[in-house]
Amino acid sequence: MSIPYRPALAGFEPYGAPQLDVPVALNVNENPYAPSPALIADIASAVAGAAGTLNRYPDREFLDLRQDLADYLAVESKVRLAPEQIWAANGSNEVMLHILQAFAGPDRSVLTFIPSYSMYPEYARDTNSTMVTVPRKDDFSIDLAELSDIFARYRPAVVLLASPNNPTGTALSTDELTAVMEASIGNGPEDAPGSDCLVVVDEAYGEFRRDGVLSALELLSTYDNLAVSRTMSKAFGAAGLRLGYLGTSREIVDQLRIVRMPYHLSALTQAAARAALAHSSEQLSQVQGIREARNEMAERLSSLGLEVAPSDANFVMFGTFPDRHRIFADLLDRGILIREVGPDGWLRVSVGTPEENDAFFAALEEALA
Ligand SMILES: Cc1ncc(COP(=O)(O)O)c(C=O)c1O
Repeated sequence: MSIPYRPALAGFEPYGAPQLDVPVALNVNENPYAPSPALIADIASAVAGAAGTLNRYPDREFLDLRQDLADYLAVESKVRLAPEQIWAANGSNEVMLHILQAFAGPDRSVLTFIPSYSMYPEYARDTNSTMVTVPRKDDFSIDLAELSDIFARYRPAVVLLASPNNPTGTALSTDELTAVMEASIGNGPEDAPGSDCLVVVDEAYGEFRRDGVLSALELLSTYDNLAVSRTMSKAFGAAGLRLGYLGTSREIVDQLRIVRMPYHLSALTQAAARAALAHSSEQLSQVQGIREARNEMAERLSSLGLEVAPSDANFVMFGTFPDRHRIFADLLDRGILIREVGPDGWLRVSVGTPEENDAFFAALEEALA
């Protein structure tokens, strides 16, 4: 068979964090706790209600869901947005793909600071945009002295900034965020003279940030070229739901409405997401426990003499190993799946239940012995 392979896809494999059947999976930064029986019952009844309407297309604008998401952000981050300032899609991956479809594309570039989330180059590839990567400093922060030169040189249409960052776990400081926003002003793409870059702060792990760490949501009232992406996949414990969203200006949302597929959020997704959001206070109390377990994990890793990147997420990056693959493989032999990702020598482990974390440490100590 001869099919018209697209040259830009030559040599690529599909996204592939391994989905292995192991006793302890700490590799994709999921919430280790399954939904509560009360939440399961509410989702089941909401989905049953929506099932009765499946002969019709769902609400294309999903304003009720957008209102619920806005209400959730008002509690979580004390930032009140209008429903028209919220966008949602099937995971924050799709939200960010919408951003690039609407604002990047041929002859436009997308900038990020590496190491960062491995999907960013894929969004750029799939929208025919040029990916520009700038290395972070050794402590994974951004070199502020270089910022204005970088923005003036590349004139990116979109900047993707994960904070807390994956795989490092580190969050951007308020100084870094404001410096990026200031550098973005007037440095938009050359084909849109006088425009600003659209800065997307990807806060997939935002709820796990330590006290005192700023959410970029707080900067939305100052910068209308800012979008802050969130997800129900992590803190909310709903990775299987596929619901990501962002807060931004109405003008930016209106552009995303142009590129989305009609009815992209199914009636079942909308109903289940709204039912889950009604349980947000119980979800957020669980987040506090995960943050404490994360701090404990970081301390235990340091006490083993390892280097640990300061984490504001639900995972910890640690190292460094002359042969990280050996440690990864030793852990896997003992039934513990973590992630071999990040700069050379580092590994990443998600926070699990107390029993999973203990199993991880028992296996790690054997692997290090
Ligand atoms: C930094 C970051 N952004 C976005 C995502 C995508 O999450 P989802 O599409 O499940 O919302 C992930 C998933 O691991 C992530 O690590």
